[in-house]
Parts: sequence; C-alpha cells; structure tokens
Amino acid sequence: MSVHKEFKRITTHSLMEMKQRGEKISMLTSYDYSLAKIVDAAGIDAILVGDSASNVMAGHETTLPITLDQMIYHASSVVRGVERALVVVDLPFGSYQGNSKEALNSAIRIMKESGAHAIKMEGGDEILESVKRILTAGVPVMGHLGLTPQSIYKFGTYTVRATEDEEAEKLINDSKKLEEAGCFALVLEKIPAHLATKVAENLNIPVIGIGAGNGVDGQVLVLHDMLGINNQFNPRFLRRYLNLYEDIKGAVGNYISDVKSKDFPSEKESY
Ligand code: KIV
Repeated sequence: MSVHKEFKRITTHSLMEMKQRGEKISMLTSYDYSLAKIVDAAGIDAILVGDSASNVMAGHETTLPITLDQMIYHASSVVRGVERALVVVDLPFGSYQGNSKEALNSAIRIMKESGAHAIKMEGGDEILESVKRILTAGVPVMGHLGLTPQSIYKFGTYTVRATEDEEAEKLINDSKKLEEAGCFALVLEKIPAHLATKVAENLNIPVIGIGAGNGVDGQVLVLHDMLGINNQFNPRFLRRYLNLYEDIKGAVGNYISDVKSKDFPSEKESY
C-alpha cells in the first residue's frame, strides 16, 4: 500500500505560479523545529532560515558572526518540522564572497546537510558569477537587494536604501541581472514602495518585500518580531500580531510564584 500525503508541497514553481495568478506569497523566518512546525501548520508558503538567527537566536548585534555550521544546524532543525512550506536558507557572511567555488561549496553543504530546498544570497552584480555557478549545480537561488544587513559596515546605518537615483538605478539593473541569471525569486528589504513596485512589475520572478510596501508579490517578516518576542525592535514596517514578550514574562512570573508558594506541583501533578 502506498502512503501518500494529502498536502501539496510548495516549490519554487508554486511561487512563480502564485505571482502569475496574483496570489500574494507569505513568508516568515524560523530557526528551530518547534516554531517551524507551527508556522508550517498555519499554512505559510515559504520559511526563511535567515541569518537574522545571529541577532534573534544568538544575541549578536549584526548578522556577520553566524557561521555556515550554525546555519546548517538551524536549517536542519527547521526542515525536520516542515511538511509543506518551501524552506530557503541564507548563505551567511563570509561563506560566498571569496569566490564562486567557495560559494558553490557552501550552497552544496547547506543543501546536503540540512535538506533545505533553496538558498538566499545578498547582493547584485558583485555576486553574479557565484549565483550562476550555484544555479548550474541545480541549487535554486533567491536574491536579496536593498538593505543587505551583511554589508551594514559599508552602509553605516539600517535606514531606507535606494532613495537616491543612482542607487535605485543600480538596484533595478541588479534585479534584472539576478532574474536573467536564473534566480527563482528576489527579496527587497527596506526600499521606497514605489521602487519596489516598479521592480516587481519589471520582473517575471516573484518579489518578496520586507519594508518595501504593498506593490510586491509577497511579504516576509522575522517571526520573533511579528510575535512580539523582541519588544525592542520597532521599525515602521513591522506589524506585531502578538505581544509574547509580556505573555511569556507573565507566565514565567506565575510559575516562579507557584514554586515559591509550594502551590506547584499539586497532588494531581505528582506520582
Ligand atoms: O535574515 C533574515 O531574516 C532576512 C530577512 C529579513 C529577509 O534576510
């Protein structure tokens, strides 16, 4: 007897079809098995194992310190929790900028050791050779332009990118080059909404925005930010759906007082 599952897995092609029929793509980050399982069960289209794990999970100020081994650990945990969503993994800083062979080796390690379905890389023209080499190995690549946090020390700030004509023009050219190279989708982070809309209209591949307005083909947010676990990050583009910082703090406070007062465990909770 053959066992078949009733859900349809989301693929890179599904995202393309969603753009073609005008259905918006939903994407969130996840870094661990338990939360990825919930996010997947809720019906998310794509999960990003972002290098924002460096901030959210490890408490670093930037995304730069996270290693390829650490990304593989997070990605393999997420993959074990997911049955339906497309799982995309960030190539971390320092694992692809050296040359295209290094980039290919890093992408292959992620695919082989985590079981994820695609990788994401930050940059345009500068990384094109690496993007092409990874694609020839059959690994789907998602691009990422606009605010690219791995270059934060070059930018100097996390403010909106591409507000000037020259940078906007480079972004438009880079997006076209990434599409021509064969990227299956593109993330645009923190750029003016009118520019993001123009890029999405110019490209056949889906454009997924974070702080890029509503004219793109989908949205991505960092899970811990939209759940309100991190209550110190308040950018304009963030919509909070829960206030888990306060809820978790309250629950832990209740547990502490139950232990101190000897209310927990009760007889019913004992053997
Ligand atoms: O690492 C990440 O979470 C990201 C998103 C912000 C797009 O790259």
